[in-house]
Amino acid sequence: MSGQPDPATEAYYRRIAALSLAIEQSARGGATQEVLEIAEAVNHHFAWEPFSGGAETPPDPIAAAGLECLRAATLQDLDLAIARLPVFPAVAQRALQMLMSSDWSGVELEAVASSDQKIAAELIGAANSGPSGARRSISTIAHAISYIGAARAARILYAASLRPLYSSAPLRPLWMHSLAAAQAARTLAESSRAADPDEAFLAGLIHDIGRLAMMMLPAAFQSRFEYLTRAGCEPFLAERMLSGFSHAQAGARALKGWRFPEPLVTAVEFHHQPEKTGDRLAAILFLVEHWSDAGEDVPSAARLRLALERAQLKESDLARLVPQQDRSIQALTYT
Ligand SMILES: [Fe+2]
Ligand SMILES: [Fe+2]
Repeated sequence: MSGQPDPATEAYYRRIAALSLAIEQSARGGATQEVLEIAEAVNHHFAWEPFSGGAETPPDPIAAAGLECLRAATLQDLDLAIARLPVFPAVAQRALQMLMSSDWSGVELEAVASSDQKIAAELIGAANSGPSGARRSISTIAHAISYIGAARAARILYAASLRPLYSSAPLRPLWMHSLAAAQAARTLAESSRAADPDEAFLAGLIHDIGRLAMMMLPAAFQSRFEYLTRAGCEPFLAERMLSGFSHAQAGARALKGWRFPEPLVTAVEFHHQPEKTGDRLAAILFLVEHWSDAGEDVPSAARLRLALERAQLKESDLARLVPQQDRSIQALTYT
């Protein structure tokens, strides 16, 4: 024995300490013993959630008191934040409608791509890029689509049209995470056959879009969120303690407003809580979050088991996951 606490225990104590301090700051004046008890109760409330079978369990009175004093944003604040988000790109909207329909053609794709000069340029650039690029230079959308294939071109088009939403420096890591998640989700859907690979790709790209809205919540939320996460509280927990909702719910709410297809909204809404839905795409997104090791939530063996079962995968499949990398998609990262 080295005498060092294991990482899970250490993370637990860091979380409790962070919560205690946040509660103490907002309640001002409670005895230390009391504050610790409240912090433990709040943590306990969330720790048991994966075992609730999807039912909403009200917090016990001590945890409820803790959550009350931590609250720094409301659902109304979220609606204001969503209203302030950039308009969802029209070309992305059209590409999505096309991709979600069962039959679409290269001609349709060409029409969508042609409606945005920048996107068209990205598509042509992608067709010319990398070792698989054309020997002769490609200069038209139609040629690009026939050269790289309509399905691949459609994925590039969709990713390229979403990228501007994440162009500011603080959002770039989130864009990289979204690109990686999209490719991992597509690969997992393909190997497990638990979901349509193209739908999984789209879902992976937008799974954390709610974080854009969370970043626009009031300053009190931001400062406390920053404090809690820096001190060791996982973002998914901190969000819910401070507002009662998470980036997953915020994302689903925004997507609903943008009239996204129901299957994508559901997958995004439950991508950290697969037990709350029978949806397989939500399970795939949960597995992708777990695989990406982004540390958005406290690891949960119960949720992992359930998501693996739903996607008909084993933990070893996930450990061996090597997403198929598309160089053209990779080229859409920010440097
Ligand atoms: Fe994520
Ligand atoms: Fe997430």
